Amino acid sequence: MLVDTFGRTATDLRVSLTDRCNLRCTYCMPAEGLPWLPKSELLTDDEIVRLVGIAVTRLGVDEVRFTGGEPLVRPGVAGLVARVAALRPRPRVSLTTNGIGLARLAPDLAAAGLDRVNVSLDTVDEAVFRKLTRRDRFADVVAGLAAAAAAGLAPVKVNSVLMRGINDAEAPDLLRWCLERGYELRFIEQMPLDAQHGWDRSEMVTAEEILTALGREFTLTPEGEQVRGAAPAETWLVDGGPGRVGVIASVTRPFCGACDRVRLTADGQIRTCLFAREESDLRAALRSGAGDAELAERWRVAMLGKKRAAGIGEPGFVQPERPMSAIGG
Ligand code: GTP
Ligand code: 5AD
Ligand code: SF4
Repeated sequence: MLVDTFGRTATDLRVSLTDRCNLRCTYCMPAEGLPWLPKSELLTDDEIVRLVGIAVTRLGVDEVRFTGGEPLVRPGVAGLVARVAALRPRPRVSLTTNGIGLARLAPDLAAAGLDRVNVSLDTVDEAVFRKLTRRDRFADVVAGLAAAAAAGLAPVKVNSVLMRGINDAEAPDLLRWCLERGYELRFIEQMPLDAQHGWDRSEMVTAEEILTALGREFTLTPEGEQVRGAAPAETWLVDGGPGRVGVIASVTRPFCGACDRVRLTADGQIRTCLFAREESDLRAALRSGAGDAELAERWRVAMLGKKRAAGIGEPGFVQPERPMSAIGG
C-alpha cells in the first residue's frame, strides 16, 4: 500500500502521457508553447505498463487516470488503455483530455476498456474559446464530447476553469449546455500552476462566487460528504436532479485531508502532490535495471515525503517548478 505519514492511502494513480498539448490555454502556457520534454526522456509504453502494473499488483492502486498535457496527442493511447485494463486486479481506467481527437478515438478507447473521460471545456462561446485556447477547435471538442457519450464513456464530465473578465459570466450558460447534453459539469478554482507564474489570488473566481451566480438561476441541493468520498469535487443536484454540478475548490476549500492520489509524470517521476517540491526518479531506477520489488519499495518510500496539504496562498507557499501541463491535471 502507498501510505503517507498522515495516514492517507493513495489508490488513485494519475499518469501523464506527455507534456505536449494542441491547445494554448492562456491560463496554462504561453502562445509559443513550452520547451517540451525530449522523447528519450519520456517513459515508453512498456515502461508505463510495467510501472502501472507494479502500482496495481503490489501497491493497492485501483484507479488509473491518464492525463497530459493532452494525452490523446501521444500515439497509441488506446493500446495503453487496453494493456492497463488487462492488469489484474483490473483497475478502473479513465482519461482527462481537452476533447480534441476524441471524436475519432472514443470508440477505440471504449473498446480498449476505458471506463470514463473528463473533458476540459471552459466556454460554450466559440469566439471566447478561440481567444482562451488560442486555437479554433471548439467544434472538435463538442464533437469529441458527443462521441464519448455515444461510446458509453459515462458519466462524461466537463471541467471548466473560470477567469475574471473572460468567461466568468458564463457559469449558468455552461451548466445549461451540459445539462441539456447529459454531461456532468465541474467548475475548478484556478490554481497557481501556470507556466507563466501569473496566478493572482485576488483575480481568482471563487467557489462561492460561482455558487452565487448559479443560485440565481438554479436550485442547488448539496449531495453531501457520503457521495463525495475522496473526490475533489463537492456536488449539488440541480433543480432536484438528476442533473448535477460540482465545484473543485482547491484554493478556498482544499480537500488535501482526504487525498488518495499519487502521480507519475511523463518522464517517470513520482509526484506525491500537484504542489510537491520534490520528485522521486523511478525512471532512473527502472532504466538502471531495478526489479519490481525494488521499484515498489522506492514508490513506498517516496510517499513518506507527501505533505499534509498543498497550502496554496499560505505563508511560505511556493509554486512548483513544473507547470500543470507537465504534471498532469
Ligand atoms: P473524477 O474521478 O472524475 O472525480 O476525476 P478528477 O476530478 O479527479 O479528475 P480530473 O482530471 O478531471 O481533475 C479535475 C481537476 O481537479 C484538475 O484539473 C485539478 O484542477 C483538480 N485536481 C485533480 N487532482 C488534484 C489534486 O490532487 N489536488 C488538487 N488540489 N486539485 C486536483
Ligand atoms: N488551475 C486549475 N485547473 C487547471 N487546469 C489547467 N490549469 C489549471 C490551473 N492552473 C485544468 C484544465 C483541465 C484540467 C486537466 O486542469 O482546465 O480541466
Ligand atoms: Fe492544453 Fe490543458 Fe494546458 Fe489547455 S489547460 S493548454 S488543454 S494542457
